[in-house]
Amino acid sequence: MVKTLVLAAGMGSRLKSEKVKVLHRIFDKPILSWVLESLAEVASEEIIVVCGHQYEAVESFLHAYPVTTVLQEEQLGTGHAVRQVEDHLDDYDGTVLIINGDSPLIRAETLNQLVKFHQDNILDMSFLSCNLEHPDGYGRIIRKDGRILAIKEDKDCSEAERQIKEVNAGVYCFEWSTIKEGLSKLGNDNAQEEYYLTDLVAWAYSQGHEIASFNLANPYEVLGVNNREDLSLVWKLQNEANLHELMQNGVTIVDPATTFISPDADIGPDTVILPNTYIQRRVVIGRGSTIGPNTSIFGPAEIGENSTVIQSHISRSSLGAKANIGPFAHIRDGSDINENVRIGSFVEVKNSALADDCAAAHLSYIGDAKLKTGVNIGAGTVVANYDHRTGDKYETTINANASTGANSVLVSPIEIGEASMIAAGSVVTKDVPADTLAIARPKQEHKTNRVVAKN
Ligand code: UD1
Ligand code: CA
Repeated sequence: MVKTLVLAAGMGSRLKSEKVKVLHRIFDKPILSWVLESLAEVASEEIIVVCGHQYEAVESFLHAYPVTTVLQEEQLGTGHAVRQVEDHLDDYDGTVLIINGDSPLIRAETLNQLVKFHQDNILDMSFLSCNLEHPDGYGRIIRKDGRILAIKEDKDCSEAERQIKEVNAGVYCFEWSTIKEGLSKLGNDNAQEEYYLTDLVAWAYSQGHEIASFNLANPYEVLGVNNREDLSLVWKLQNEANLHELMQNGVTIVDPATTFISPDADIGPDTVILPNTYIQRRVVIGRGSTIGPNTSIFGPAEIGENSTVIQSHISRSSLGAKANIGPFAHIRDGSDINENVRIGSFVEVKNSALADDCAAAHLSYIGDAKLKTGVNIGAGTVVANYDHRTGDKYETTINANASTGANSVLVSPIEIGEASMIAAGSVVTKDVPADTLAIARPKQEHKTNRVVAKN
């Protein structure tokens, strides 16, 4: 068991953003969520998150997590951040796992390995290190005859020290009762005038405490997000890992370079993902489907087996098996579409329930509607659900096997009876009984003398 500390108070000025760094998103999930999701798999008595910049935003985001927040009013460095929990951990006498809140790719397995390494070897201080081809920006591990003497921040390194490729990953284990004395001794006489947590290493060395690093083979895991390029790299690396796993599980990804799929997606074998497909949040796709090209799906969403979605956007909706969607369909939030449904080009569906075997093949809007089995929506049908003056929305029900003619308008609220037909070009404002043809348009007239007709 450990207590865990997440350092998340910094603004992230190198991102040049109005938003605090740890709330920047990767696959629509804030950086801090990635870290907390990995931490959820580490046996921890308590997770304490040090927040400062945009405290309210970060704190309210953290309501969804079982964590304690501690305020670091002024951000005077990572060492100063850790000092903010001294009161909170006053009586604590165990291991503290500390992690920078800006390392979203860190895996639970790695964190558990570090804790085990630390505790098995009865260390006072341990941390993750790795060797980077381009170590710029990271703290370097300074060694003498193999022994760790210090961590030196990039900006404080000499030219020779800057050549060192072994870097500090920003994940540490401390024996709290041993190390807290060192925290009070940290100074800020350095290039950034900050209280560096990393200076604790030199202090621990001077006191003869047991220090060791745990070297990680995969350096990408500890990538800290400091600027927009790091953010983009983290996206890319996380995506590659996701696509790799999907392919291992029998999904065909035709072009990994243009396909982005969240790790929260679950895709069945023999599904083919065509180029330019983007899937975020929890999206479940059944086996044997074809998604893309040029398709985006924002979860939570579900798509049944043997479906086809071409060149379309789906958001927070579920579709049953054998759905045939697009090209250029827009399935908006709250749509619940059953099996064997066809939604064709330039059709928008919003917050509507479509039972089995419905079809809306062309140029339609279906909003706040319930379509029972086998309804056919003619080209250009519009469900007029919205009262612009009041902002109210009204519901329409179209019963089984009814159909609407081309260019018909159903003014909600309205109910169309089973197996009824709406004639093309109708504007329907009254309920239509079952088995009825409703015609609501001027009659066609033929006038032979056009001069007479004008008068
Ligand atoms: C830090 C390490 C560096 C390491 C790198 C790994 C220090 C001094 N340096 O550098 O050795 O190689 O991480 O990614 O620790 N934070 C606070 N309060 C503060 C300052 C920072 O909570 O006053 C938080 C930030 O929000 C961030 C984390 O601490 O999540 C790390 O801070 P950052 O400024 O990104 O440190 P680096 O320069 O990356
Ligand atoms: Ca960082």
